Amino acid sequence: MKLTWYGHSVFHIEGGGAKILIDPFFTGNPSCEVSHEDIDADFILLTHGHADHYGDTTAIAKRTEATIVGNFEVVNYAQKEGCPNAHPMHIGGGNTFPFGHLKLTIAHHGSSMPDGSYGGNPAGLLLTIDGKKIYHAGDTGLTYDMKLLEKEQVDLAILPIGDNFTMGPDDALEAVKFVNPKLVIPVHYNTWPLIEQDPQAWGARVEEATSAKVKVLTPGESFEL
Ligand code: NI
Ligand code: MN
Repeated sequence: MKLTWYGHSVFHIEGGGAKILIDPFFTGNPSCEVSHEDIDADFILLTHGHADHYGDTTAIAKRTEATIVGNFEVVNYAQKEGCPNAHPMHIGGGNTFPFGHLKLTIAHHGSSMPDGSYGGNPAGLLLTIDGKKIYHAGDTGLTYDMKLLEKEQVDLAILPIGDNFTMGPDDALEAVKFVNPKLVIPVHYNTWPLIEQDPQAWGARVEEATSAKVKVLTPGESFEL
């Protein structure tokens, strides 16, 4: 499958016969030069309601008729905004979609919607696509619950390292030890000065301390998993 990172927490995945977009924050994303109008999607997966994750969901969903998937409150908001197709879930629940399986995992964070309304609890995404397991942690602090994911034999973990709003580099390293994935991609850093980090230095620390490989992407870069 082909994965593309558009900076911050935005991923586009072509796999399982579908185009899957995660946390589509294009407009106002300083690390992304791509317009949401150039992005195609069959499914939009949302970790939580904050504006830097909900992003251009409404515009993309109205244009593409993509199905919005996320917690009940976030999906409910998207439907009120006029998104035509939606599938509500909640933490701990899994479902098999045409592209593969998705389970929402625990994340410790907030989740108000862009208009300030209640967005339920934030989540991480545990995806199984084309036989590969991908864990997108969303926005979260370090939690020992991540240790539960070790038995999932995660192929790729996408972890925030920016600090201030989420795990910083030290806690994200602990998260790698808990999850024990084959490959890690750091995200949610260098979007703004407040979350400036050195991903290469972090990657070197992770590869020194664990058996995981680290892939540092530049916004817009794609790779095959
Ligand atoms: Ni957030
Ligand atoms: Mn965020």
